[in-house]
Amino acid sequence: MKKGMRDEKSSLFMENTYVPELLNGTESGRYLALDLGGTNFRLLLVEMLSGKITKEIVKPYEIKDEARIGCGLKLFDFLAECISDFTHENGVADLNLPLGFTFSFPMHQKSIHNGILLKWTKSFAATNVEGNDVVIMLQEAIERRGDVKVDINAVLNDTTGTLLKGCLLDPRTRIGMIIGTGTNACYMERADRISHWESERHGEKEVLIDIEWGAFGDNGTIDFVKTYFDRQLDSNSLYLNSFSFEKLISGLYLGELVRIILVHLTNNRLLFNGILSKKIQEKNSFPSSQVSLIEEDNVNNTITNTEKILKDLNLKYTMDDLKIVKYVCELVSLRGALLLSACLSTLIHQIDKDDVTIAVDGSLYKFHPRMKIWINKFVKLLAPAYEFRLLLAEDGSGKGAAIASAIALRLQKSYTIH
Ligand code: BGC
Repeated sequence: MKKGMRDEKSSLFMENTYVPELLNGTESGRYLALDLGGTNFRLLLVEMLSGKITKEIVKPYEIKDEARIGCGLKLFDFLAECISDFTHENGVADLNLPLGFTFSFPMHQKSIHNGILLKWTKSFAATNVEGNDVVIMLQEAIERRGDVKVDINAVLNDTTGTLLKGCLLDPRTRIGMIIGTGTNACYMERADRISHWESERHGEKEVLIDIEWGAFGDNGTIDFVKTYFDRQLDSNSLYLNSFSFEKLISGLYLGELVRIILVHLTNNRLLFNGILSKKIQEKNSFPSSQVSLIEEDNVNNTITNTEKILKDLNLKYTMDDLKIVKYVCELVSLRGALLLSACLSTLIHQIDKDDVTIAVDGSLYKFHPRMKIWINKFVKLLAPAYEFRLLLAEDGSGKGAAIASAIALRLQKSYTIH
């Protein structure tokens, strides 16, 4: 982390988000938000009064595979089409409303309103976007249509959005964390520790830093943690040797990891009498939501979910098989919780405040029955001198974008006045 902050070589990006302040209670007005990242793609219209959200309209859109992995220009044309649809539907297409754009991928920012995509992660691979400013790409797509006026005044990561949303619920929030399709965290750092600052400084005391901890270990530092199964998962993944930490933990990979282990055990005649079904041999046929369901069985001492999942996979099982499958899900989840806790507690030490709230969102965090319990327990052990709490800040990537847009507008005005 320290190397990243000094612009030295590090697997952690430690990107400056140029968000130097949180809400101060003066923000009022209407803001648009676009949230693109994991499984969701949504548009929002949010009304704020004195720093509080008073009204919101949310519309989810389906993002098809061809948009995610096809031509980049078409992806942005599609986003612009949805903005046009949404703003017309809500009668705000001509108002040039400020728009906050949550783009949940590693970005290099020169200011709060531009972000160059460093690399795609998760299951996105649209062409000709890496290395380009996604705000300009979106603005140009909007202009190509010519039927809607919006002002994209902030671009942010979903962890930033989550932190900002968390601040609305608890002003002690200083960390935003996502454990969903991908994983990442951001936190409030002292501005004087950050070397990378491309826009004019305005005496900022603090600034939000997007760690991009999903990439932790891409330089080999966590190779000692990786097992034979992790390497197999990596070799079949979309981006080889990239986002090493994320692949040990997050929702896009946890189930696949379990599947690889189960196949290995079966091939070694330790499971299912050595007989694999066709389905379990298919990549990604074991989603992480099923790990959460099997973990529910572990917590409740039942077998109902596990049986149903194995039946759906056309597997013939014994009572011992059920126990083994449950145990594999427990181990893979427990390792994820331990690794996440190690990083989170390091962050708590780095912030060094007696009392800190961590705003969290993401499907794995929400639906895994004991991820939060474990993280609480392990962080207490690893950072015993600090008070902390995990706070679920749902839909931070949506509402947080509107909040960021409101903060950006306020800062813009104050910089012009001074
Ligand atoms: C992305 C991060 C994002 C995280 C959670 C990762 O793959 O690189 O920017 O915050 O997923 O969505």
